[in-house]
Amino acid sequence: MFEKNILCIGAGYVGGPTMAVIADKCPHCKITVADINPERIAAWNSDRLPIYEPGLEEIIKRTRGKNLFFTADINRGIRENDIIFVGVNTPTKDFGVGAGMAADLQYWEKTARQILENAESSKIVVEKCTLPVKTALAMERILISTNNAIRFDVLSNPEFLAEGSAINDLENPDRILIGSRETPSGIKARDTLVEIYANWVPREKIITSNIWSSELSKLVSNAFLAQRISSINAISVICEKTDADVGEVAKAVGLDDRIGPKFLNASVGFGGSCFKKDILNLVYLCRQHNLDAVADYWEGIIKINQYQQERFILNMLDAMFHTLVDKRICLLGFAFKANTGDTRESPAIFIAKRLLEEKAEVVVSDPKALDNARKDLAGESRTEAVSYIEDPYRAAEECHAVAVLTEWDLYRKLDYRKIYDVMHKPAFIFDGRNILDHRKCYDMGFNVYSIGKPPLTHF
Ligand code: NAD
Ligand code: UGA
Repeated sequence: MFEKNILCIGAGYVGGPTMAVIADKCPHCKITVADINPERIAAWNSDRLPIYEPGLEEIIKRTRGKNLFFTADINRGIRENDIIFVGVNTPTKDFGVGAGMAADLQYWEKTARQILENAESSKIVVEKCTLPVKTALAMERILISTNNAIRFDVLSNPEFLAEGSAINDLENPDRILIGSRETPSGIKARDTLVEIYANWVPREKIITSNIWSSELSKLVSNAFLAQRISSINAISVICEKTDADVGEVAKAVGLDDRIGPKFLNASVGFGGSCFKKDILNLVYLCRQHNLDAVADYWEGIIKINQYQQERFILNMLDAMFHTLVDKRICLLGFAFKANTGDTRESPAIFIAKRLLEEKAEVVVSDPKALDNARKDLAGESRTEAVSYIEDPYRAAEECHAVAVLTEWDLYRKLDYRKIYDVMHKPAFIFDGRNILDHRKCYDMGFNVYSIGKPPLTHF
């Protein structure tokens, strides 16, 4: 018999890996992951998991069927478990009030109502998804809306994992944050969750706070991370105008202990499902409180990110004689970052669409993200001008330019001489991640354009 029965509603990039690691670290707990999407559940129960994440498969093999289970029967899951994590998606709202800014809370609210309808005993409900501040209050109001004797304690336990390194992030987190009400039952619920994490996380890394601080900390954490990228990307533009090198600037700046070296890689822009949505969420919160100056400040991060992506296209146009019509452009990488197949908000989507608008032909290459890339570009006009080729050497054949859009290790190690030989001349490389040996590529004959560095051209 298991000591604790834990349910997670939402079997996505957060629910799946998070629960797999809890199951692995807590053999005395039975973990069930439930989702409204039966195909996703079937994939979790198969040999072809619905997401790619290094190290995940091994953990699933160790735990699935022992103390980790995937089910589409959410109602039963609610009845049979005492602790319920909610890890459903909270995308940006695309309709009505707050469209394009506020979080769309419909999935989250349906879950709250479903918990209320099916619970037959008291529950601890844990917000795992990223939510606007004060969502826990709404959750509580829904859960106590009928006068039954069942008690619900709502906790906020935001997730800080990054895709591509999720398993390591979960096994060795910088911190675990648990926000609760400061009532006796809120504190008791919080301590129950602390005990679960304490199975593998050192106590000093498990921090507790009031529930609103916890909800806000998650938004702020993502805003700060994205801010660093937009800051260095803004500097990359100045570098391009002044012949400074953004890599050298980032190194010099990052060696200051107070600043630190991480998250200072200039790039074609940040992607991923969360940075933009969470900053928009923060901006919306500020505007609701009439804090327009504060809202404008944070909104600037998103503006720079859009500018950086648009600049990439303008630089391509400029370098390639102001026309991309009928030119074949190979995109090396479509995932929003390395080591994931996820393409949500990937800069590659924007770049591919803009290239199609310019009437270029696009060849998409990626080791893990081609299925998602096909879906992302399916509705575009001129989709016939896109091809999907996993092998980078074949993808580059007959191309006029190669653009590196994801920092896959694989792309650092390619034989660029071989690629140069099969391309049209003059051959161009646009390194949107600054991962290649630019001097070497230039010496082979390429015209090399990177982010925030002087271009190396033969003209
Ligand atoms: P996701 O889209 O991968 O997964 C969400 C899952 O919830 C989907 O499988 C969907 O079918 C399911 N779902 C939606 N409504 C449901 C319902 N009513 N009942 C049952 N299942 C339902 O999303 P994700 O990337 O896992 O993100 C989930 C949350 O975690 C978001 O709030 C996100 O901001 C946050 N977060 C994500 C990451 C990340 O790296 N992806 C990291 C930290 C936090
Ligand atoms: C990010 C945060 O890092 C996680 O802590 C957070 O939990 C998560 O969002 C979330 O809430 O969803 P993730 O988006 O998975 O994680 O990946 P990151 O490593 O943060 O990268 C985000 C984007 O920034 C990628 O497109 C990446 O290529 C880009 N990036 C990152 C840069 O352009 N430069 C850098 O120096 C670092």
